[in-house]
Formats: sequence, structure tokens, C-alpha cells
Amino acid sequence: MTQYSTAQNPCSDNVILNQWHAIAALEDTGRNPHRTRLLGEDLIYYLDGDDVVVSRASGERAGPGLPVHCDYGYIWTCLGQPEKPLFDMPEYHEADRRNVCAASVGVRVSAPRAVENFLDMGHFPYVHTGILGEVPHTEVREYDVELDLEKDEVLATRCRFYQPQAAAGATGGMLTEYIYRVPHPYCSILYKSCPDDESRFDVIALFVQPVDEENIRAHALVSVIDAHSASIDIRMFQQTIFGQDKPILENQVPKKLPLDPRAETPIRADKSAVFYRRWLSQKGITYGVIPAAA
Ligand SMILES: [Fe+2]
Repeated sequence: MTQYSTAQNPCSDNVILNQWHAIAALEDTGRNPHRTRLLGEDLIYYLDGDDVVVSRASGERAGPGLPVHCDYGYIWTCLGQPEKPLFDMPEYHEADRRNVCAASVGVRVSAPRAVENFLDMGHFPYVHTGILGEVPHTEVREYDVELDLEKDEVLATRCRFYQPQAAAGATGGMLTEYIYRVPHPYCSILYKSCPDDESRFDVIALFVQPVDEENIRAHALVSVIDAHSASIDIRMFQQTIFGQDKPILENQVPKKLPLDPRAETPIRADKSAVFYRRWLSQKGITYGVIPAAA
């Protein structure tokens, strides 16, 4: 198991404790117990017949069971009391989609930093050069962001960006349209133009497992309308993107996300980040962030 050097502070943030968090791809889970860490606590998970068991680790043994929910290809659990069902992502269940658990990557950064990076189109030409962007197409065009109070999520729409290779199945450059949802403090869903069907969107979801305040495992689900690409190519495409993001994320200082609006200068590309930070502040989240001074 990965060793984490950061001193462990138990999570006292009830908003985060009461969320469902993804811990592993269901397809990677078997009868042999595996260990992982969530919010600074060691967990064991395994299959018992058709059931998934997740529990706190007590030495080498499993302790009392935790709540389990399996959806979107991943195992989700909660260390507190789940206050509401996991967010809705109906596209996953459409019959003609390819759903691929594409990656689970350890990164030394806080969960909110990873979500914010996922929302940021401005880094595409510089970090994902030749794939999600390229010089001189560096402009982030005007887009809309709102806080959907009914659904309790941040929504960014009308995002457009020129991409040389928007997806594993893309055969040339295209002006890609994006919609971002942030329906969970540590998860985001991206809808982007589908190279195979102009009327629909491909979906890439980021489920961030907060290992502790400054370490994560980033789980990616790719849900695409693509009859041609091999699953391994869909996986390799997403892992290439993650591999480019990982060193950028690990060099961010501070590792926690500052919520004070004056902490880091916003630019247009950061408009969704401004809403995301404000939403975290309104929720009173303290884990993985540097709260704004009262
Ligand atoms: Fe990126």
C-alpha cells in the first residue's frame, strides 16, 4: 500500500464526513481484502459474494461495516451519516455508452485543488499541448457560471475551446463545447462535444478520494459514445492527461485551496473557480481548504 508521510489529523468537517466518497473501481475489487485510506482513516474493502464490504481497518482485520453504495463503476462509502443520495448522472445508464473506469491516480495535493484544476480551461494549451489545446489558440472565451441552488451544484455552460485531439476517438482538431457540473465538493462532471455524434455529449467524471487533507486518489470515469476505440485506448488517453496534470498539481503552493477571494487573483478562466470557492465557503467546508478569515 502507498505510504503517506503527512501527519494525520482526523477529519472534523461534518459536511465532508457525511458525503459519499469513491474509494475504488468496482471491477478492480475481489474477495481478497484491499486497504485504502479516506479522510485520514485506514479502510479495508472486499467482495463477500455479490456484496461489497467496506470497513475501518482494525490492525490487519476489518472492523464494523460502513455504508456502501456502488454506482458509476466505483465503490462509494461514507464515514459519517450520508445526508442525501449520491448525485445524479443519468448519462451513465444510457444503453449505447461505453463506460470506462479509466484511472485511479495518487496525487500529493488537496481534493479541492484537483477539482479546481479540472475546471480550468486556461491550462489546456500549456499542459496538454497538442491534445486538449495548443498555442496560439490560448484564449478562454466568455462563458457562463451559476450556482444552481435547487440542485446545490456549480454549473458552467457555453465553454468553448479549440482542441487538436478532444478525445481518444477524435480524428482532427475541433472547437469543443464544454459543460461543467460540480455536484459534490470533491467531484466534477465534464460534458464535452462528442466527435461521433454532434447531438450528444461525452462525459468525463472526476471523483476525488480525499486520502487526507493534502493527498488524494483521483478516479476518472469516461462515459463516451464511441463504437470504435478500444477500451485500452480510452484508458490510455485519460491516463496521459492525468499524467500531465499530476506534476502541475503537486507543485501547487499551498496544497490546500485558499477560500479567501483575495488570496489568488482571478482571471476569466478562473470564473468557475471563483464560484466553486464561494460555494465551498457557503457550505462551511474546512477540510482541504484554507477558510477565509471571518
Ligand atoms: Fe489538466
